[in-house]
Amino acid sequence: IERTLSIIKPDATRRNLTGAINKKFEDAGLRIVAQKRILLSEAQAGEFYAVHKERPFFGELVSFMASGPVVVQVLEGEGAISKNREVMGATNPSDAAPGTIRAEFAESVGENSVHGSDAPETAAEEIAFYFSGLELVG
Ligand code: GTP
Ligand code: MG
Repeated sequence: IERTLSIIKPDATRRNLTGAINKKFEDAGLRIVAQKRILLSEAQAGEFYAVHKERPFFGELVSFMASGPVVVQVLEGEGAISKNREVMGATNPSDAAPGTIRAEFAESVGENSVHGSDAPETAAEEIAFYFSGLELVG
């Protein structure tokens, strides 16, 4: 059984969409096995997204991710990493398939409501960034 790291981003928590987004995960068969609502500093957001530090949108991404509360969570299920990315939809909401989280809720390519790990190695690193083993209850 696979686990992935998910983040409900500040544009979504601001609009009170945490429950609506969690319903999409649960309806798709993903189990929320850990979850907490936190406020990232710009330094923490920059560390989490360090892989993007050379990209032109890095500064915007970091200030957005620190602009309000996020809900960080661990989703578990068969093929959880790819299943979560299917439920999320494409990065840019204008390319996202109907019914996906980003098609329904995202405001722009930057303020796109959710993050999901993209591979097993990054999932393990990203889960460890936010959660200790004690917080993970299958
Ligand atoms: P994540 O699950 O958040 O990693 O999204 P992704 O894998 O679909 O996209 P990617 O890793 O390429 O980019 C990471 C995040 O950077 C995106 O989710 C957006 O929030 C942001 N981002 C990507 N492209 C742009 C852009 O052109 N402009 C802005 N402002 N933000 C962007
Ligand atoms: Mg990504």
